[in-house]
Amino acid sequence: MKFQASATSILDWSGDGLAIGLFDNQLELSGELAALDGKLGGLVKEVIAEAEFKGQPGNLATTRVAGAGFRKLILVGLGKVEDLKPEGLRRAASAAARAARREKCGSLGLALAVGNQAADVAAQAIAEGVELALYKDHRFKSEKDETKPVDEVHLLGMAGQEGAIDRAQKIASGVFLARELVAAPANYVTPISMAQTAQDLAKEYGLELKILEQAECEALGMGAFLGVAMASDLPPKFIHLIYKPQGTPRKKLAIIGKGLTFDSGGYNLKVGASSIEMMKTDMGGAGATFGAAKAIAQIKPDVEVHFISAVTENMVSGRGMHPGDILTASNGKTIEINNTDAEGRLTLADALVYADKLGVDGMIDLATLTGACVVALGDDIAGLWSPNDALAKGFEAAAEAAGEKLWRMPMEERYFESMKSPLADMKNTGSRAGGAISASVFLKQFVKDTPWMHLDVAGPVWTDKEIAYNSVGATGYGVRSLVQWVLG
Ligand code: BES
Ligand code: MN
Ligand code: ZN
Repeated sequence: MKFQASATSILDWSGDGLAIGLFDNQLELSGELAALDGKLGGLVKEVIAEAEFKGQPGNLATTRVAGAGFRKLILVGLGKVEDLKPEGLRRAASAAARAARREKCGSLGLALAVGNQAADVAAQAIAEGVELALYKDHRFKSEKDETKPVDEVHLLGMAGQEGAIDRAQKIASGVFLARELVAAPANYVTPISMAQTAQDLAKEYGLELKILEQAECEALGMGAFLGVAMASDLPPKFIHLIYKPQGTPRKKLAIIGKGLTFDSGGYNLKVGASSIEMMKTDMGGAGATFGAAKAIAQIKPDVEVHFISAVTENMVSGRGMHPGDILTASNGKTIEINNTDAEGRLTLADALVYADKLGVDGMIDLATLTGACVVALGDDIAGLWSPNDALAKGFEAAAEAAGEKLWRMPMEERYFESMKSPLADMKNTGSRAGGAISASVFLKQFVKDTPWMHLDVAGPVWTDKEIAYNSVGATGYGVRSLVQWVLG
């Protein structure tokens, strides 16, 4: 996709499709819009009337134009000026881009008003919306995608915003990596392929990389991670990518992603309605972590960032852990496994202990951790847990700006009581009620010194319906908020 930040007016632009954003009180048309309507012989007003176009978010109207420098006119609703936020622009831009593709427009002129937003924030959101909406995953189709692509987008009235557009494209490339990793099934994305992906990222973008093989994980005492990995025929990979800025970093951060390339449940096999066939998405946290690494390595902020994932798959085998086994994590704590399907928290336990020792100023884990979080918040909203208000608030603000939905949940220590074990320090699951909360309290046992936040992304890493710029499938959830958080 080629973007151009252009000073051209909607009256002078020529290309295939011109998309114009209209506020809901602007349908009378004035200024350039009125002039365009005049140039087109009153067509804009006609379309507004015929399509019952109200200028609301989600309103869209398209028409054929003759005798202008372009052949399709696309109207997009922006809602009320005072309500317009970056996410509104992202969605309006994505609606315009999708309409342009439907109408076979190779080039699109995009003139969305920016309302009260700063020009760079607006340009970034618009470019993100276009990129994210036009993404297509054709890797597993045997026939070539013949759809005519939108390959040139001119952001009209946004001259000078090349930097913001460039940032949007770097972020989008990270979102695409996360989508590709999550969408690819477990016979393509494996612990070995994840290590290879990390190696490719390190090489292409100059990141440092450490991959701890099984023996090194054993030496570090990572019994919880390795307990899960035991049943797999594939070697576990503990992956640690590092982005270091030139000069002294302003701060140091860590991002940790749950990296189960498949979750069968183990001996507590996923049966019935537990969607075992969707468990290729159980590395969504690692996908977001790698996606953030890809974006951040290109944006090059003055912040040191560690990207970590303990990658394996949760399988069934004679070598697998038995329900009832007791594992020892790398901080010495012992865990009685009363459910082999609560495996993510085991892999994260050792990853958190490892990250805690890096001396970073803050760390965030992202995990497709519990079905209970999906029950609580639905498919579109992630759950946030943190004992640290400043960290939680900072990330909430980043996610708001990035347009990713989340909700802060209570870190109810008392629920840990249901995880007490008569034999070991704890069990790995507590009562079914509040299962997403007890999971986060379990994780907390493996954090000592570092300000920490946990994000349960079991719902939003995947969507079964098209929502704005997310098509059916993997969403790449988390990448945009993480990047925004690191830059902030
Ligand atoms: N990977 C699953 C959580 C999950 C469920 C992700 C649905 C996406 C959609 C996790 O490993 C798991 O199996 N959690 C169990 C925990 C339970 C055994 C306490 C769950 O949620 O059922
Ligand atoms: Mn599981
Ligand atoms: Zn899992």
